[in-house]
Amino acid sequence: MKRNDPATTTAESATDSAMIRLDGVGVTYPDGTLALHPLDLTFRQGEFTVLLGLSGAGKSTLLRTLNQLVVPSSGTISSDELGVIHGSARVRAHRRHTAMIFQQHQLLLRKSALTNVLTGRLAAHSAWRTLLPMPADDVTLAYQCLQRVGLADKTFVRADNLSGGQMQRVGIARALAQQPRVILADEPVASLDPNTSMQVLEQLSRISREDGITTIVSLHQLELARRFAQRVIGLAGGRVVFDGPPSALDSATLDQIYNSGKQDGHQPDTETPSVHQSGSGDHEEPMRAAV
Ligand SMILES: Nc1ncnc2c1ncn2[C@@H]1O[C@H](COP(=O)(O)OP(=O)(O)OP(=O)(O)O)[C@@H](O)[C@H]1O
Ligand SMILES: [Mg+2]
Repeated sequence: MKRNDPATTTAESATDSAMIRLDGVGVTYPDGTLALHPLDLTFRQGEFTVLLGLSGAGKSTLLRTLNQLVVPSSGTISSDELGVIHGSARVRAHRRHTAMIFQQHQLLLRKSALTNVLTGRLAAHSAWRTLLPMPADDVTLAYQCLQRVGLADKTFVRADNLSGGQMQRVGIARALAQQPRVILADEPVASLDPNTSMQVLEQLSRISREDGITTIVSLHQLELARRFAQRVIGLAGGRVVFDGPPSALDSATLDQIYNSGKQDGHQPDTETPSVHQSGSGDHEEPMRAAV
C-alpha cells in the first residue's frame, strides 16, 4: 500500500471498532423540514469518510448531528467510549473529543494563529480556568499543532494576515489542539482554489491517518472525494443512497446521488472548486430538531 496515496488505503485498514454508531437517527427541523430519514450508520476508528450529495441532501445536518449540535428527532448516537450519548455530561464529553472544521474556518481574525489554535484547548478546561493565561503545556501543544500543518513561521501572525488556505490550516491545527478522536469538517475547502484544496485535504488526511482520527468530511468536489476518501457516503433527499469505497462510484451510483434526490439543483463539481455557500451557515449553537 502506498502510504502517500490515501485513495489506495481501503476502509478495511481502519480498525473494526465502531467508534460512533447511529441507530435509527432521523432529523426533522422545527419548521417541519425532514432533513434526515431515520438511518443506521457506523463510523470505524481512523476511517476517512467523505459525504457527497446535492445541496440540501443533509450533509451538514448529519455532521451536526454527529456532534449533537443538532439533536436528533429519533434514534440514538453511541460511541465506543461513552455508550449512548445522552444527557449534558455525556454530550459535553463527546464534544470534547470531537473537533469541527468549518468552511469559513471561524477564526478570531484579530488574534494570532497561536491564540486561535489555543482556543482548541478551551474545552479541556473548566470555565473559570479559561479566565487565566493558558498553561505552558497548552501553548507548547498549540505550537506543535501549527508545526504539523507547516505554519510554525506564522505563529504570531494575525489570522487576517493569512491566506485562505493558511487560515484553513490554522483551523486544522485548532482542531488538532483539541486532541480529538473525531474530526467533522463541513465543506472545508469550498472557498479555496483547486491546488490549495488539494493541499489542505492532503494535510487533513495525512494527520488523520497518522493519529488514527475518525474523520468525516463533506465535499462538493467529486474528484477530491475519489482522491482522499476511504469511504464515501452518498446522500440524496436525506437518505443514504450509497455507502462504499470511492472505487465503487460508477455512473449509476453517481446518478443516484446527484439525480435521485434533486433539491436545489446543485451539481457536483469535478473540475473546479465549489463556490457553493452552505445555506444553513456554520451554526455553533445547538439546535433541537422537532420531536
Ligand atoms: N436550521 C434549519 N431549519 C430548517 N431546515 C433546515 C435547517 N438547516 C437545514 N435545513 C434543511 O434541511 C435540509 C438539509 O440541509 P443541510 O444543510 O443538511 O444540507 P446540505 O447537504 O449540507 O446542503 P449544502 O450542500 O447546501 O450545504 C435542507 O432541506 C435544508 O433546507
Ligand atoms: Mg451543508
